[in-house]
Amino acid sequence: MTRTHGGDDYHLAVLVEEVVRCFEGAPEGEIFDGTLGAGGHAEALLDAYPACRVLGVDRDPEALAEARARLGRFGDRVRILHARFDEAAVAAGLTGPTLSGALLDLGISSHQIDEAERGFTFREGAPLDMRMEGAESGAGTAADLLNEWEEDRISRLLRSYGDEPRSRAIAREIVKRRAERPMERTEDLLAAIEAVYRRPPMAKEKARVFQALRIEVNDELGALERALPALRDALLPGGAFVVLSYHSLEDRRVKNAFREWSRACTCPPEIPVCVCRGEPLGTLLTRSIVRPSDAEIGANPRARSARLRAWRKAA
Ligand SMILES: C[S@@+](CC[C@H](N)C(=O)[O-])C[C@H]1O[C@@H](n2cnc3c(N)ncnc32)[C@H](O)[C@@H]1O
Repeated sequence: MTRTHGGDDYHLAVLVEEVVRCFEGAPEGEIFDGTLGAGGHAEALLDAYPACRVLGVDRDPEALAEARARLGRFGDRVRILHARFDEAAVAAGLTGPTLSGALLDLGISSHQIDEAERGFTFREGAPLDMRMEGAESGAGTAADLLNEWEEDRISRLLRSYGDEPRSRAIAREIVKRRAERPMERTEDLLAAIEAVYRRPPMAKEKARVFQALRIEVNDELGALERALPALRDALLPGGAFVVLSYHSLEDRRVKNAFREWSRACTCPPEIPVCVCRGEPLGTLLTRSIVRPSDAEIGANPRARSARLRAWRKAA
């Protein structure tokens, strides 16, 4: 497999060989990469399957510029679209089943984490923004949420999306502090966490809070829930659907969807008699989750929480 590594400084793609293998035997045609990022997975797919084309989508315009440069050598085998993956099928004019495969590599890229101005980082000195589309989206920022939400709602967010054990105390501290001065920069939030822990918080403690905010600001779980059935329906018979998730709430949604679609009867429980005639919509390509090896995690620690699941639509 020939591969250039121009985009690897931007984001190092995870479980590349495993992702590529999932598309073996898929029908010829266009693979939808809904989280194009720096184009690492897309490049590997285009190299591995000379007949395949890629429709690359990302909500972050900076990522698309990076991918465009990396994938330029594939010419018209690549289409690039600035959109959210849950809205991309309409934006790309896809009607009916046309895709040979779909890939979602969820979450954010290393570049988004590294670039302080976008506010994903929990290093001091960045605005509390976290919008993947950047300011042009006009959507609310993490600061808006922290300054406007009620204490109880902030607490529930930190608990459910961040598994934060001190969620109540941190929410209380945020509300107390914002009465004096609005939450604007990462150091404002870090100071609230530090006040609760009564010591400088550890990286994992900061990450729990920042991750919860990022998931909410970008409606990441909502986007995934809308995209799963839409992309399944856009697959051609035999098409592969591959998802890499980095959070247990994402992985649970993917696991449940792929399992449900692989059951012989897919009628909703309230229907007393099977109307789907017991035909599964497809089969699991991964019986259990695939995780990166210790060697991959050693080379790329951000791969640590990756979980891959794959499904194939019935032929
Ligand atoms: C982990 S990175 C993907 C990296 C990519 N697979 C590669 O090889 O470089 C996730 C990317 O998905 C994008 N993203 C996250 N949620 C999205 C959504 N709902 N729609 C479109 N892009 C999204 C982010 O902007 C980010 O660039």
